[in-house]
Amino acid sequence: MNNLAILERQQRPLHRPTPFGQDVHHGLSQNAKAIPAKYFYDRRGSELFEQICRLPEYYPTRTERKILRDNAAEIAAIIGSDAEVVEFGAGAAEKVRLLLDALPRPAGYLPIDISGPHLSAAVAPLAQAYPGVTVRVVAGDFTQALALPAPLPQARCRVGFFPGSTIGNFTPEEALGFLRNAASVLRTGGSSGAGLLIGVDMVKDPAVLHAAYNDSAGVTAAFNLNLLQRINRELNGDFDLDAFNHYAFYQPAAHRIEMHLVSRRAQSVSICDRRYAFAAGESIHTENSYKYTPAGFRALAEKAGFRPAAMWTDEASLFSLHWLTLPDA
Ligand code: AVJ
Repeated sequence: MNNLAILERQQRPLHRPTPFGQDVHHGLSQNAKAIPAKYFYDRRGSELFEQICRLPEYYPTRTERKILRDNAAEIAAIIGSDAEVVEFGAGAAEKVRLLLDALPRPAGYLPIDISGPHLSAAVAPLAQAYPGVTVRVVAGDFTQALALPAPLPQARCRVGFFPGSTIGNFTPEEALGFLRNAASVLRTGGSSGAGLLIGVDMVKDPAVLHAAYNDSAGVTAAFNLNLLQRINRELNGDFDLDAFNHYAFYQPAAHRIEMHLVSRRAQSVSICDRRYAFAAGESIHTENSYKYTPAGFRALAEKAGFRPAAMWTDEASLFSLHWLTLPDA
């Protein structure tokens, strides 16, 4: 395939702890233990997440796909031709097909994902299916400042795609930082026509939210616990996975789901020669998943320098897809 390039953007000096190791050590040394949610996605974690997306209780994926499908023509007309689609956190690179199928003559697809090998495997068939689209994979952490390859000469503008409500993993302050960073990245293709198509999970009945993060098949629990398995494997840890429980709940005041791993007993865990003590009932906070009202999200986008230009939702108002433009700077 000559329309596919894989670009490695993560360089790390040898003999240095990995960012994963540093973040785990830092997170487990706090009074309120926490590990960033981005570390769920090793190979197994990415597989489990794809299973979550197919669960009957987990409405976001299928609802967002339906919103994309039902409004594809209107979205395509708004975005127009010759766009380079920049996807933040592409994962399996599945949803973008709906967008690429709808857009008139998309110029390029530039997915950024922390799980490099997983993404590279996923995009090869995609590059084959879209021979007219220049696919350039960037393996890296999109929450860090990333230098993107130069815009394609044939592209008119860069259009960001951030589906799945991944933005929900960020606190509102982090989300603002991400949006500001995205605005500056997307402007590198010229600001005329540039914008961001972003999927955002909505505030709703807590019972619906609770079920989505406490599925009856236990896949979300396995996804959460896999983080400990990953620490055991990659950082030489000795977590006993049976000694921790998955615990997820909705916090209405903060508009967020919190996921935790709760220690079933007093225990100590060693990771790469360091020991961490857990009291019975003590938790590791592993994820936040923020939910937004349309007005709440628009206000955040405006603060970051975007202009909210359109929004689509489903009949039950479960999920929203926002189109944000970049006013000429
Ligand atoms: C990928 C962050 C959008 O918050 O719903 C799914 C991750 N965690 N089930 C979400 C997740 C537990 C998901 N995001």
